[in-house]
Amino acid sequence: MNNLSARIRNTTLQEKIISAEEAASLIKAGMNIGTSGFTPSGYPKAVPLALAERIRQEKFTVNLWTGASVGKELDAALAEVGGIAKRLPYQTNAVTRQAINSGRMQYTDLHLSHVAPMARAGFLGGKVDVAIVEACAITEAGHIVPTTSVGNAAAFVQLADTVIVELNVAQPLALEGMHDIVTPGLPPVQAVLPLVNVADRIGVPYIPCSIEKIAGIVVSDIPDDVRPLAAVDADAKAMTGHLIKFLQAEIKAGRMPANLLPLQSGVGSVANAVITGLVDSDFSNLTVYTEVIQDGMLDLIDAGKLTFASGTALTPSPQGLQRFYANLDRYKDKLVLRPQEISNHPEIARRLGIIAMNTAIEFDIYGHVNSTHVMGSKIMNGIGGSGDFARNGYLTCFFSSSVAKEGAISCIVPMCSHIDHTEHDVDVFITEQGVADIRGLSPKERARKIIGNCAHPRYRPRLLDYLERAEKATGGAHTPHLLAEALSWHCRFLETGTMQF
Ligand code: COA
Repeated sequence: MNNLSARIRNTTLQEKIISAEEAASLIKAGMNIGTSGFTPSGYPKAVPLALAERIRQEKFTVNLWTGASVGKELDAALAEVGGIAKRLPYQTNAVTRQAINSGRMQYTDLHLSHVAPMARAGFLGGKVDVAIVEACAITEAGHIVPTTSVGNAAAFVQLADTVIVELNVAQPLALEGMHDIVTPGLPPVQAVLPLVNVADRIGVPYIPCSIEKIAGIVVSDIPDDVRPLAAVDADAKAMTGHLIKFLQAEIKAGRMPANLLPLQSGVGSVANAVITGLVDSDFSNLTVYTEVIQDGMLDLIDAGKLTFASGTALTPSPQGLQRFYANLDRYKDKLVLRPQEISNHPEIARRLGIIAMNTAIEFDIYGHVNSTHVMGSKIMNGIGGSGDFARNGYLTCFFSSSVAKEGAISCIVPMCSHIDHTEHDVDVFITEQGVADIRGLSPKERARKIIGNCAHPRYRPRLLDYLERAEKATGGAHTPHLLAEALSWHCRFLETGTMQF
């Protein structure tokens, strides 16, 4: 116990250490389980593994609410034993995705800033029965110091009947102080969030919790299941180049300060490549107000170009995590982790005037974006925070390669097979082919710009042909479509394996 007293600072709580199996036995069939975790960072590991083993033997299901995607010890372990009846609000795990797309798991895909307020309001199908939260320490008063993410942990602890703390001794104690926790109330009594600069702190550095609420503490040392980043390919490099030129022109035109506005950058390899690309650019004194802090942001700090980054999770590669741990004291001054209802807060995103940069699966000639579904029916990951930022950004950009699956799919289509972001939410599209700045354009103007600047040359004539025939058939209607043909590109792919004619 001696070596744990720095991490469990209350003697009553020191008596509450239990095994992962004992903790898992507190969970009953049909319960709503709310966990910490956002990307493979800061999620509980030992208790979910023990719960998965219990479910394998006893065969029951629970509903799993997290911050976003989480690591294999939680999502995959529970999905593999068929233990999740309903999952929300975001996932990236292959086993979970397969269960959702084969009808074995219900999935509620939510804007990430909406989850905590919706849970608080009771909109998500009952209360939080048990919160399982990873911590690097528990204070004398019972407050929980989170680890490499905050996500929805604060809201779940606030709402839960029972809290299980997974005290992870592999997470450095020096993480303490990196978090800024606020738990807003419900309308109509909502305090103004006084956050006007990305570095502002408006809360406390721990998740408020009472000693009585903590049913057990499980000590673990399982590291975050962080994953390597995909290599930056030629398309990502080209998109980064286009973005940098575009932003330079915005500054020249007087529409953006020389150090830009706070950057928000989505998940995935393109998003990280874009941020990494800024290291070699002329921009300096940059700021970040985003969801996930990836390797590229550490690169920018090391290059002396990033003043401050606010997020809800660290999402580094294995090398990035080691670099972060080794230089924690230096990075700590430049980073803050907040609850996702604050990191993704629409009001704050609008006030700060963020540059929102996210990746699309496909977009259509009129500017609608599909971020979540493959061929209309199958979920890929989920909307994540892209909608929180896209609708409220000062400048909203979406990236995509112009084609996927070695050219068999055009990522610019006549009509998206699923729509997450509408024509009203997007300012700029960027593919490896170029940039379509659609601000202030009518649908038909947009279509010509998107086809001309972003579509792959192989598909460009066909898209233009669709537009011209649709204009003719509708007598030049506002947003011309040939309804019987609008989704024919997807149908052709499903029937023949290619969208090519
Ligand atoms: N139709 C069908 N499949 C497509 C496609 C299209 N138009 N475009 C891409 N794909 C496939 C790719 O071929 C790849 O398939 P594979 O896994 O079999 O290789 C897969 O989709 C992922 O594509 P990739 O280019 O590797 O994408 P990525 O890692 O950059 O992720 C998203 C792209 C859209 C899936 C990801 O950014 C996402 O989940 N976005 C939604 C959430 C979000 O934006 N969060 C950020 C908020 S802060």
